[in-house]
Amino acid sequence: MACHILGISAFYHDSAACLLRDGEIVAAAQEERFTRMKGDADFPARAVDYCLHVGGLSSDQLTAVAFYDKPLLKFERILETYLGVAPRGIRSFLMAMPLWLKEKLFIDRLIRKGIGYHGRILYAEHHESHAASAFYPSPFDEAAILTVDGVGEWATASFGVGRGKDIELQAEMHFPHSLGLLYSAFTYYTGFKVNSGEYKVMGLAPYGEPKHVNLILSELMDLKEDGSFKLNMKYFNYLDGLTMTSEAFHQLFGGPPREPETKLTQKEMDLARSVQVVCEEVMLRMARTVHARTAQDNLCLAGGVALNCVANGRILREGPFKRLWIQPAAGDAGGALGVALLAYHRYFGAGRRNGSGRDKMQAALLGPAFTDEEIQAFLQGRGIPYRQLDQDSLVREVAEILSHEKVVGWFQGRMEFGPRALGNRSILGDPRSPKMQAQMNLKIKFREGFRPFAPSVLREYVADYFELNEDSPYMLLVASVKRDRQIQMSETEQALWGIDKLNVPRSDIPAVTHIDHSARIQTVSRKDNPLYYDLLRAFEDLTGCGVLVNTSFNVRGEPIVCTPEDAYRCFMRTHIDYLVMGAFLLEKHGQPEWKETKDWRQEFQLD
Ligand SMILES: [Fe+2]
Repeated sequence: MACHILGISAFYHDSAACLLRDGEIVAAAQEERFTRMKGDADFPARAVDYCLHVGGLSSDQLTAVAFYDKPLLKFERILETYLGVAPRGIRSFLMAMPLWLKEKLFIDRLIRKGIGYHGRILYAEHHESHAASAFYPSPFDEAAILTVDGVGEWATASFGVGRGKDIELQAEMHFPHSLGLLYSAFTYYTGFKVNSGEYKVMGLAPYGEPKHVNLILSELMDLKEDGSFKLNMKYFNYLDGLTMTSEAFHQLFGGPPREPETKLTQKEMDLARSVQVVCEEVMLRMARTVHARTAQDNLCLAGGVALNCVANGRILREGPFKRLWIQPAAGDAGGALGVALLAYHRYFGAGRRNGSGRDKMQAALLGPAFTDEEIQAFLQGRGIPYRQLDQDSLVREVAEILSHEKVVGWFQGRMEFGPRALGNRSILGDPRSPKMQAQMNLKIKFREGFRPFAPSVLREYVADYFELNEDSPYMLLVASVKRDRQIQMSETEQALWGIDKLNVPRSDIPAVTHIDHSARIQTVSRKDNPLYYDLLRAFEDLTGCGVLVNTSFNVRGEPIVCTPEDAYRCFMRTHIDYLVMGAFLLEKHGQPEWKETKDWRQEFQLD
């Protein structure tokens, strides 16, 4: 009998489910993609249904269900935190308590009820789940592991070693001292949403100066040589309040937090740069310590902070490890995968097969897929005009369309697991076009103009375009565009203020080159994603450029599209010129008039 383990992460943010069969990943998905609520933290009933469906299982056929953290330990941390600051925290305590008592303490019951399951339920600690998600799917037989996030139960960072089927964590840093929460405090203070706006802070950082680094290091934190630190809690409000930063923080940085959606100023850019520099420094020190304490050559990373691809790029370039692997679902969604793998190898004691040199994530393409028959039935049912093409003609025609500066929605195969679109639920454009970044940000994603786009590049050409010659299949490494492709700014351009510099081309692939000449790179290999590879190849044959702009298929505030219906809706609401779903090509021109049933712009808080 095969061993089927269902992993679940839920109730914090970005709930997810994952199904393993004999240790191989059958399916994994985030709940938000089904419910269409970004970062949905509810019990992932739809994601579980999907996983069981792909596995052809009913819940009573599962060998075990595994949950990604220990609710009682987390409860203890919250209780002690509240008691420690009482009576100051009474308001948020009262808000959180009923939820905890009613729901979170009764995860067992919720799981049983949620999926009609009567068997074994296993729990792991939050950072063990992250660590397992970092090590088990990695290509390494043996590696050091580093996990860094906001907070789990008590731990905010941990490190250890993975060997074969065993993981041993050696040290932890504890709440409230947390790199993730420090970053989130700056995310909050610069007017972005905690838990999702951290990416924006990272994107904003290159427009600013690291003016406040010394202030952060002298006032906000006591950073040790080994990368551990203590935060000065007088500047933070997450122990007893409903916000991240305290009045003392606001005084230190000269005023209240920026109101969300108001104009960004140089102040926010300087703050973003400063916290980013501190984050990189902490991560580098941690990596050096882990290397010294474990004597390993390879490093595996997970936890929300491992999505900071600028810091990852520096660990790769400047850190002591020879090789680096980062879990693509590094945030809490990946905990569902981690805990399932941990149950399989630790609880059931199963061996770990490896040695292929490749990771076991299947290119992170672990979500729902739709056949051409299903897509065609959708199109015909809605009276949507389309053309059907064979695969060769399709990639050639789409390459041609892209070369004319048109924007293409590209919907193929299984949806990605984790926060990045990797060529199956992507919006694509020509990176050589100087107007592409602004056009895609403002007319298609409806988001802040400064936000950079990422390149997908043919793996064999990565070193021709970037200062990188490694696999980066999950878009989790940042490196510079190659020096001879960079365009230096003139003195007049240098004098431009912050975001005005955006329109100054920085290389011969300006749409994917950030202001500091960096790029967040996805390398594409044929063995990982043959169709997407062939499209890049066709674009290269036609234009001589082996790179495409790849951004996730959604608008700001919306989860990445999952179904043909989601994709069509996004296509019609935006200025995407063409939509490709399976073998079908749709042109915006000639589509029936699109009617909204509700005010969707309000739903996603778009202007
Ligand atoms: Fe986490």
